[in-house]
Amino acid sequence: MIKTVFITGADKGLGFSLVQRFLRAGAHVFAGLHQANSDLSYLAKSFPKTLTPISLDVTQLESVSQAANTVAKLVPALDVLINNAGVMLENRTPLLELDLARLPLFETLDVNTFGPLRMVQQFLPLLEKSDHKLILNISSEAGSITDCWRESEFAYSMSKAALNMQSRILQNYLKPRGFKLLAVHPGWMRTDMGGADADINADEAAEGIFNLAGKKWGPDDDIYMDYRAQPISW
Ligand SMILES: NC(=O)c1ccc[n+]([C@@H]2O[C@H](COP(=O)([O-])OP(=O)(O)OC[C@H]3O[C@@H](n4cnc5c(N)ncnc54)[C@H](OP(=O)(O)O)[C@@H]3O)[C@@H](O)[C@H]2O)c1
Repeated sequence: MIKTVFITGADKGLGFSLVQRFLRAGAHVFAGLHQANSDLSYLAKSFPKTLTPISLDVTQLESVSQAANTVAKLVPALDVLINNAGVMLENRTPLLELDLARLPLFETLDVNTFGPLRMVQQFLPLLEKSDHKLILNISSEAGSITDCWRESEFAYSMSKAALNMQSRILQNYLKPRGFKLLAVHPGWMRTDMGGADADINADEAAEGIFNLAGKKWGPDDDIYMDYRAQPISW
């Protein structure tokens, strides 16, 4: 059973649903909050012992490091790290109409790609002390090069493709130490990011991801998949 989990971007959307799902399962949830006035504060009243909200900006190493120190003071080990925080800062503007000087590539990479890397680096000692040792990166089908259908959305898609490469590199590095990395597409969800026309709600995605997190993974199992454990081509 998963006893401790850290979830980034827990203010709303998928992160918020994941917090609720792990709390229902009895886990101690550390919820990384980007906003001071998150809806999550009312949940903390219902789960005073098992929900610990922690202020977190994944673009700031100091903020990530403080979060890791806070968790280390409260629990001896962290079973699962879910890198969920993400941004989509562009629309589907075609190349010839794009103002490349304003393409939000670096801002997007900073959150979607470097954010998870900062988190893994700073939380590694705590994860290492657990028997579960799972790092679950919320990726996207937008990061698949093989199945790519988009004609724009450069920054977001490139940030998720880079996150996939990062997941593979970390899997190579951490496998001998008993870790498992997953890069999971959560489905097209009705959230602020996914919009009202999307296929599924965030609770459905959270249920699937909760099941993935609890599974016993072999060291050489596929690591890029959707929330129903269907493999995705790199
Ligand atoms: N929605 C979809 O259809 C879909 C599809 C594929 C993949 N995904 C991925 O799924 C994940 C969750 O998406 P979502 O739809 O739930 O998005 P969302 O509703 O926009 O929520 C994103 C969360 O990330 C937080 N965040 C943004 N920048 C941050 C930072 N610098 N530090 C810490 N937290 C930060 C946001 O906080 P603020 O609101 O304060 O900025 C928010 O809590 C993302 O990684 C996304 O790329 C989503």
